[in-house]
Amino acid sequence: MLTNKTLVITGAASGIGAATAAHCAALGARVLCVDMRPPARQHAGFFQADLSDPAAIDRLVAELPAGIDGLANIAGLPPTRPAADVLKVNLLGLRHLTLGLLPKLADGASIVNLASLAGFEWPQALPAIQASEDLDFAAVPAFCERFGIHGARSYFFSKEALIAWTLRHRWSWRARGIRMNAVSPGPVDTPILQDFIETLGERAEEDMRIMDRPGRADDIAPVVAFLLSDGAAWIRGTNVPVDGGMHAHILAQIHGL
Ligand code: NAI
Repeated sequence: MLTNKTLVITGAASGIGAATAAHCAALGARVLCVDMRPPARQHAGFFQADLSDPAAIDRLVAELPAGIDGLANIAGLPPTRPAADVLKVNLLGLRHLTLGLLPKLADGASIVNLASLAGFEWPQALPAIQASEDLDFAAVPAFCERFGIHGARSYFFSKEALIAWTLRHRWSWRARGIRMNAVSPGPVDTPILQDFIETLGERAEEDMRIMDRPGRADDIAPVVAFLLSDGAAWIRGTNVPVDGGMHAHILAQIHGL
């Protein structure tokens, strides 16, 4: 299903990124791994880069080959990390890499952004989302101050803004057949699950009580792989929840179903 496709997968050293890299490679893709630390399985190649640093991202873009058929933006920091770092990696770095890589993407390429169920309430953050559109890396601390984005809120905001950014660019590169979508997992059992439980406290425990089990990286990888494949060619700008039904549950509660 991904035969002859060259894919760039960020966050490939751990969790969902590592599972997605392995899954796509098994489906025949030539997988180029990007991370700040070396993955155990490097597949068709490993490119080390700190995705919180625009200069490092520019170097990465220069190193990567042309003719990329898919980009999976999976690298991310959990809510326990400093607010500015979370915004830089989860939002600004992701956007900088995606926009920088556009000239090296093949026509018909697919971009998949790892968002989160945590971004569900994005319409309520519109003023900050709009103000973050042209946000520069150096201006992140002042931006966080202005919009009261402190602590775990930075993680939620990064994912809200990412879902909105994906939607906004539903047709930006349509003339080249390039499409972008997001995937929003609920809690997934990876090294950062504990960070979420610590940060969200009671809410996370309540979620875990409602859910039959936490997700596994292998629940998410096939969905990302599908969105990277030609079978998903007419899916554009959307956000796909992969969460054991949590998104549906929240919607059902809101609408009294
Ligand atoms: P993980 O911690 O297992 O993997 C994240 C990877 O990103 C690591 O390999 C790490 O080295 C890399 N990374 C972090 N900062 C980086 C930087 N500055 N430059 C380059 N690489 C960097 O986490 P997991 O769970 O696999 O998360 C992957 C994505 O899925 C993240 O965007 C996360 O927000 C999202 N997600 C995770 C959920 C979960 O419950 N685990 C739930 C919803 C979304």
